[in-house]
Amino acid sequence: MRAMMRVGLTYDLQTDPRDERQVEFDPPRTIERLCAALQELGHHVVRLGNAADLLASRTGLDQVDLVFNIAEGTHGRHREAWVPTLLELLHVPYVGSDPLALSLGLDKAACKRLARACGLPTPRWIAVDHPGAIPAELALAFPLIVKPRYQGSGIGIDEGAVVQDRPSLHRRAEWLFERWPESLIIEEFVGEGELTVCVIGNHPPTAYPAIQRPVHPESRLSCHVVRQDLPASWATPLELTDALDAEARRIALEMFAALGCRDMARVDLRADEQGTVWFLEINPLPSLDPEGSFGLLAEHLGVTYARLVGRILEAARTRLAVWARPAPIAPHARA
Ligand SMILES: Nc1ncnc2c1ncn2[C@@H]1O[C@H](COP(=O)(O)OP(=O)(O)OP(=O)(O)O)[C@@H](O)[C@H]1O
Ligand SMILES: [Mg+2]
Repeated sequence: MRAMMRVGLTYDLQTDPRDERQVEFDPPRTIERLCAALQELGHHVVRLGNAADLLASRTGLDQVDLVFNIAEGTHGRHREAWVPTLLELLHVPYVGSDPLALSLGLDKAACKRLARACGLPTPRWIAVDHPGAIPAELALAFPLIVKPRYQGSGIGIDEGAVVQDRPSLHRRAEWLFERWPESLIIEEFVGEGELTVCVIGNHPPTAYPAIQRPVHPESRLSCHVVRQDLPASWATPLELTDALDAEARRIALEMFAALGCRDMARVDLRADEQGTVWFLEINPLPSLDPEGSFGLLAEHLGVTYARLVGRILEAARTRLAVWARPAPIAPHARA
């Protein structure tokens, strides 16, 4: 592959941050910064839009060597897989995980089962498909957190998500089912503090130092889900020791491998006073918002945002260097 590439960017654009259906989409500032970073790295950027744009026209795809995909999709538990599926059908190489890893990553219960199968600590939980399915005997200890099974970006999670007793649990579950009827998970609330680990690369991937997120002093939820301005009083209660950091990175790499992720991911964890690090969830399509975890990581490493984006792109390029682009599949001739 050439040093200078024509890189297509696929994304779902957030035009109204107050629109609940757009919460997971990327705001214009992320798209602008990502384009600027790719240009700074010497590449030509072609904005391709989302899955619907690709379906409407393939013209842009003919102009690119590679696609950098951050498209979230709009609905259903395979929404993140739409763009990669179309690109695979058309044999267009792309940055990031494949449809299977992306769909698995959206299913919090499936990821927790994988974590358990790998022998990794994850809070005890049950998945529930309708309000009547909450068992009379709960093998879980309060406080519990109730969250949608197939959502991200803190959707459906606020201070009311943490429940202390049975009546509040039922009230919250009903509230969630009215809004996200698919399925929810009820999970033990664990840990005093919150860690997130960014992973970049393949064969082997690199888990970067864990970042401690501030937590809300009362609810102990991460600052990124309690959507308030961040007062200085918000706590980072953990002493982030080398041992905690190493454990968080180990879990992140195990889960990256378990899902078969590629090029990048972010793993969210909780840690408690006993030194246990708990796996919460993995995001094979992490936000690349320069003000989010990857932006923070760049700052922490003392590199520019563009350099960090360059590492993700380089990971994909190295992986794809051994990949020959086959001819696209042909449609059947109609009888
Ligand atoms: N079992 C738990 N114990 C303690 N806190 C939890 C637990 N589950 C979730 N949280 C809190 O809620 C936040 C969001 O949870 P989670 O990461 O599962 O949801 P999400 O919507 O996928 O989030 P993201 O915005 O990271 O995509 C966590 O960062 C954490 O602060
Ligand atoms: Mg999370």
